Amino acid sequence: MKHWQLNKEDSGIVVAVLDRAGESTNALSTEVTDEFAQILDQLELYPPKGLIVRSAKAAGFIAGADIGEFSQLDTPEKGRALVARGWDLFNRLAAVKYPTLALVRGHCLGGGLELALACRYILAVDEPGTKMALPEVMLGIFPGWGGMLRLPQRVGPAAALDMMLTGRTVDAKKAKKMGLVDDCVPPRVMEMAARQLLLSNQPRRPLPFMQKLLAGPLKSVVANGARKQVARKARPEHYPAPYAIIDLWQQHGGNALAAPEVVDRIISSPTAKNLLRVFRLQERLKGFGKDGDFATKHVHVIGAGVMGGDIAAWCALRGLTVTLQDQSLERIAPAIQRANTLFKKKLREPLKARAAFDRLIPDPTGSGVAHADVVIEAIFENVEAKHALFRSLEPRMKPGAILASNTSSLRLEDLRTALARPERLVGIHFFNPVAMMPLVEVVEAEGADPAAVRAACAFVKQIDKLPLPVKSTPGFLVNAVLAPYMLAAMRAVDEGVAPETVDEAMLAFGMPMGPIELVDTVGLDIAMAAGRQLADGAEAPRCLLQRVEKGQLGKKSGQGFYAWQQGRPQKGATAAVPAGLAEKLVQPLVDRTQRLVAEGIVADADLADAGVIFGTGFAPFTGGPLNRLNSSR
Ligand code: NAI
Repeated sequence: MKHWQLNKEDSGIVVAVLDRAGESTNALSTEVTDEFAQILDQLELYPPKGLIVRSAKAAGFIAGADIGEFSQLDTPEKGRALVARGWDLFNRLAAVKYPTLALVRGHCLGGGLELALACRYILAVDEPGTKMALPEVMLGIFPGWGGMLRLPQRVGPAAALDMMLTGRTVDAKKAKKMGLVDDCVPPRVMEMAARQLLLSNQPRRPLPFMQKLLAGPLKSVVANGARKQVARKARPEHYPAPYAIIDLWQQHGGNALAAPEVVDRIISSPTAKNLLRVFRLQERLKGFGKDGDFATKHVHVIGAGVMGGDIAAWCALRGLTVTLQDQSLERIAPAIQRANTLFKKKLREPLKARAAFDRLIPDPTGSGVAHADVVIEAIFENVEAKHALFRSLEPRMKPGAILASNTSSLRLEDLRTALARPERLVGIHFFNPVAMMPLVEVVEAEGADPAAVRAACAFVKQIDKLPLPVKSTPGFLVNAVLAPYMLAAMRAVDEGVAPETVDEAMLAFGMPMGPIELVDTVGLDIAMAAGRQLADGAEAPRCLLQRVEKGQLGKKSGQGFYAWQQGRPQKGATAAVPAGLAEKLVQPLVDRTQRLVAEGIVADADLADAGVIFGTGFAPFTGGPLNRLNSSR
């Protein structure tokens, strides 16, 4: 066999080890599942005492089905055949007489988890990389290889639907707690524990009585509740897959083959095609961070304000040592407090949160500069202040360290004149709020050192953000495309359309937030300044001017286009959305995106789509503004 290895132990246990040829991670390609079927054939003839399925890859167990094969599903027959391949195989695995166990270490996703679920036992190895999920919904499809059948049986329908409808990952401890795995052990005892559990004859933990009710007589209650929850986040015309998952579980026991019309509809949907594209684009962005061997241990951030404070916290959360500088300790304190809240929320375990907290070091004198691999400037948006800072920083920095500015609106070409080695300055442009926004623009000024740009991308990838290389231009990509879109939205308000109606038009289009609420969120003063720089000399909208004059700056002042209470805009009822409004508002964004591609600010149309999706939340099911344009032609 090409991808699997079978080891027969003296005890009579057989270990099937997946080591997919030519790849660093395991995925369930047709070849891999065909070979696994051969293994089951062999074991049928000579039944072992027990079977352990595991991976030989350092990266993890199995990352899912082979995504490359999805794009070949050009007929309904091929789609159904793909579902049948895993469904039948894992049913066969679930039915064997001898005990089976999946030893899960590292990622165990999608089809990988469905394989594990078909084993009698699952043993998870407790280490940071161990993550289990059924993320199919994020690709616009459903877990059709038995996930919809077996996950509810193991963890109860509510928790199972939650995992399947959100794609959420769970770690080893959580998986044990919810009953997804039978046990969770540290790596040093996993071999022994796997063999003991396999031969233990231990019955599966029964579902609690309430969960049994929810899986039986109260099924429709769970399904209806789940439908309501999904409806709050995704409209069926945009994202049909989560609704299909609920239907398939409720009406067909998770067997998609019992509803071939659903399989055809979901697999051939433009949403599935576009979400697959978005997944690929995401991988492409990650790829920019894989160049070279730049590794960051220590980051020094200057400016502990809104951005600098949160950038520092994020880097500490991701395991880096961070020194955070500002003009005084008092100015650093609020950032440390916010960081503490972030660590507790994201890391949950007090020891881990404490360790992250210890990695974030207040540094009012800037002594961290000399040790840092990456120095990020995030002080006031003022050229003179930044020049003075750069002059004092440069002589103290390590020779190979990156010097980056988080500036939104100043030209790197102007900022770097204060440097002895101007070619080393790059832009690393984060978005607000840092913890939520996946994209970071890596800005290359004319004549910048390509090695510095590559290293900046590697740093961004290292902290689990998506680096998008862009050329230096006002607003880079994301703010430059947002500005004309927000302007168009405010022009509509000037023309008498209610802010609520404008927002509703774009929510119905598939945006995560309406443009007027977005203006309120970023601040009307900021929107005004951005407009001045990015709106090609267009006059500011009246509705914006009037509010700014009255000091109504949006969320931060409690009143903008909306009144804000407890961090939420108080919106009135929405009138019917005028026909064509959404198209009219989105057109300037599309035009600007095209222009930036033509000007070479981003390398190609695909990357522009990626940037606009991950930087603005632009309706992912469309595959991006330019993809949408091309598919509508
Ligand atoms: P902010 O005003 O919240 O924070 C700036 C901090 O820098 C203040 O705490 C200030 O005390 C400190 N500071 C000023 N001069 C300093 C010096 N010489 N040495 C040490 N500390 C100094 O500003 P914010 O919003 O965090 O912006 C910072 C940078 O990030 C700006 O360049 C801005 O354009 C950029 N940016 C801002 C975004 C936002 O949404 N606020 C988004 C993306 C980039």
